[in-house]
Amino acid sequence: MNSWRILCSAVVAAMITTGAPAQDGAEIFKKNCTACHKMGKKLVGPDLTGVTEKRSDEWLRKFIRSSSALIKSGDPDAVAIFEEFNKTPMLEFPFSDAELTALLSYLASFSKPAAAEATATATEQVEEPALVFTEADVEQGRFLFQHRTTGGGPTCISCHNVSDQGLVPGGLLAKDLTHVAGRMGDQGIVGILGAPPFPAMAAAYNGRTALTETEVHALTAFLVHADKNTAATAEADGKNTMLFWGLGGLVAILLGVALTWARRLKRSVRHDIDARQLRTI
Ligand code: HEC
Ligand code: HEC
Repeated sequence: MNSWRILCSAVVAAMITTGAPAQDGAEIFKKNCTACHKMGKKLVGPDLTGVTEKRSDEWLRKFIRSSSALIKSGDPDAVAIFEEFNKTPMLEFPFSDAELTALLSYLASFSKPAAAEATATATEQVEEPALVFTEADVEQGRFLFQHRTTGGGPTCISCHNVSDQGLVPGGLLAKDLTHVAGRMGDQGIVGILGAPPFPAMAAAYNGRTALTETEVHALTAFLVHADKNTAATAEADGKNTMLFWGLGGLVAILLGVALTWARRLKRSVRHDIDARQLRTI
């Protein structure tokens, strides 16, 4: 009994020491949010400058813990921002109250007056040079999307589909990426690939298997290319691949049924003829 109690407290102690909550707001933000949010700039998600003035403390806590729950509850601000960002879902962050307090005070340091002071640096950020993609980047990206083996980790195509010439239909585990570049912009994709915020992808590309900057650039080039060169109908075709195979299966079954029927018909006809001939003999 006693040893059980000691074990329990050891486990708890281990949890406390190893999982010590990083209560540094900047650190929390860097780890969890920068793939989609940048201060002074719209990325996958909105620019969060001044957000602590725009929204109440309570609202922010709810939204960060589970934006989908707040959206589902019909909160008009949550619904509006969700619609504005093409219904791109944010992740859920089960932060403790203390972590949220640290995070929100970090966000508050980017409030409007403070931001005005920092406009010089903020505009520098906004003026980032546009990304330039060459045909070779696109080719390399198309290759990596299907065959990346450097560093290990699964290929993109095992989870995602992209409707692009010469590409076999990809996985349906995750979103179709044909028009992701149109939705989140090239900088947004670079952000996501540089530090994937989705658990499945974060696990796939981590540490040794992380994507290199060159790979991120090439993959982004490929996705921008796919977005520009694939009409909306082609994406629908891609999505309909499953339906196609489903229908194909149905047709095969119907054909099978038709053939058996035909054979049966033939047999019975032949049988009739045989019978007639037998009679005439
Ligand atoms: C996967 C991308 C992604 C990640 C990671 C992410 N966000 Fe978001 N965030 C969004 C999107 C997209 C929206 C726009 C609303 C929507 O579509 O739900 C948003 C909206 C918000 C809003 C509401 C802004 C407003 O104007 O009302 C806040 C606040 C916010 N995010 C904070 C955070 C914080 C803090 C983190 C890190 C703990 C974080 N987000 C991580 C994508 C993300
Ligand atoms: C293990 C499966 C898996 C692999 C492998 C994978 N992803 Fe993802 N990816 C996901 C999941 C899950 C999401 C979250 C969105 C969803 O549920 O579809 C996602 C989201 C994305 C998004 C954002 C989509 C959006 O509309 O929000 C991009 C861009 C992306 N992946 C690109 C890639 C690229 C490029 C590769 C290859 C280097 C890759 N992914 C490999 C599972 C995967």
